[in-house]
Amino acid sequence: MSSDFSPPTDNNSGVAAAVIVSSLVVVGKIAVIYLLCARKARKPIVKELQAREVDAPTMERFFQEIAKEKPVRFTAQQLCSFTANYSTTLGSGGFGVVYKGQFLNGVKIAVKVLNRSPDRQAGEQFMAEVGTIGRTYHMNLVRLYGFCHDQFMSALVYEYLENGSLDKYLFSEAREIEWEKLHHIAVGTAKGIAYLHEECVQRIIHYDIKPGNVLLDANFFPKVADFGLAKLCNRDNTHLTVSGYRGTPGYSAPEFLLKNHPITHKCDVYSFGMLLFEIVGRRRNAKIGSNESMDWFPKHVWEEYEKGDLAAMTVACGIEEKDREKAERMSMVALWCVQDSPDSRPLMSAVVKMLEGGVEVMPPPKPFHYLYSVGINVLQQANETGTSSSYATSKETNSIWYKETTPIMAKYEIQVASS
Ligand SMILES: Nc1ncnc2c1ncn2[C@@H]1O[C@H](COP(=O)(O)OP(=O)(O)O)[C@@H](O)[C@H]1O
Ligand SMILES: [Mg+2]
Repeated sequence: MSSDFSPPTDNNSGVAAAVIVSSLVVVGKIAVIYLLCARKARKPIVKELQAREVDAPTMERFFQEIAKEKPVRFTAQQLCSFTANYSTTLGSGGFGVVYKGQFLNGVKIAVKVLNRSPDRQAGEQFMAEVGTIGRTYHMNLVRLYGFCHDQFMSALVYEYLENGSLDKYLFSEAREIEWEKLHHIAVGTAKGIAYLHEECVQRIIHYDIKPGNVLLDANFFPKVADFGLAKLCNRDNTHLTVSGYRGTPGYSAPEFLLKNHPITHKCDVYSFGMLLFEIVGRRRNAKIGSNESMDWFPKHVWEEYEKGDLAAMTVACGIEEKDREKAERMSMVALWCVQDSPDSRPLMSAVVKMLEGGVEVMPPPKPFHYLYSVGINVLQQANETGTSSSYATSKETNSIWYKETTPIMAKYEIQVASS
């Protein structure tokens, strides 16, 4: 009987045990599912964190790369070793000799060793280059990797440009560079100067734009170089006070010849115009003719333009049919760039636009008045009265230099106007 009769307590405890066990199983299952879910959910977070973590050597390399962006200070011994004791000369100019060299990693360099003169010029030139080109970063400007300055020497270390300076190609009989490439060189050079004038935090005026200071890489891609005369100026300043003459005769703007005349960034535009004439003519602008008279190409371009004969002039310059339209356009842009009044000269960004051909170049007015002495009187009068007349910087508008309409539209407008 006793076996039939299980004490209620015993029976109850069995049920309770079963309930506890099954509950534990359920709770266990829930816990396992929860843990699985939690792991699943956590996994991507861990992964993400891992993805964001950059290992120390990579960070170190990154910092080194960043540091390289700024000019590095080298010792005289380092430069001596980079240039194999200054064994290869690349060129020389008024301020020193440029040598070929290479860093230990094989990157080729050009080292410009500045003449140490007792006057302040060498020091000024050194500071001008480091202070201007050292702050810039543009594909049409030569890179300054670093410098060296101690009690014995001042030197500048640049990226090496295989093909040297533009003058070598422009004035040689060989005509190694085809005209199309010369056009690209003109546009690239204009972009480099436009960056200096219009895009740097502090405007940079180069003061010595000429073919000898445009360097070409292995693909004849142009880079503006030689910032020895360059100056920084605040964009708000309408002009700089420059003591004395700056630049190279034949390329420097007329305002340098006129006492107390405001010098602005437009002096680079004038020099660039002279460079454009030399590209069109593939010759130096000034030549002494057989009878000792001066044969000055820019004046010739103006006279041909005035007669409506620019096309004939491009033929005489040996420019092929396919390049003539671009050459005529380049001549008109050059005539704009060399206007007597700096205000009348275009901004370099406008020069880029006009050379690239997306806009219609407006007819340029007659330049070179100062050479015919008519303009010189006017400017002298302006000086005497203390005003700078048309030289004062006015609000610049593009409308005088070019029209945004396409050439087809321009033609249409002319037809409408004349009908
Ligand atoms: N980075 C360079 N790569 C190759 N050649 C160079 C480089 N820099 C200068 N040169 C050569 O040296 C010449 C003089 O250099 P530049 O910087 O114009 O000095 P300077 O102030 O003496 O005129 C150039 O015309 C060019 O032939
Ligand atoms: Mg030079």
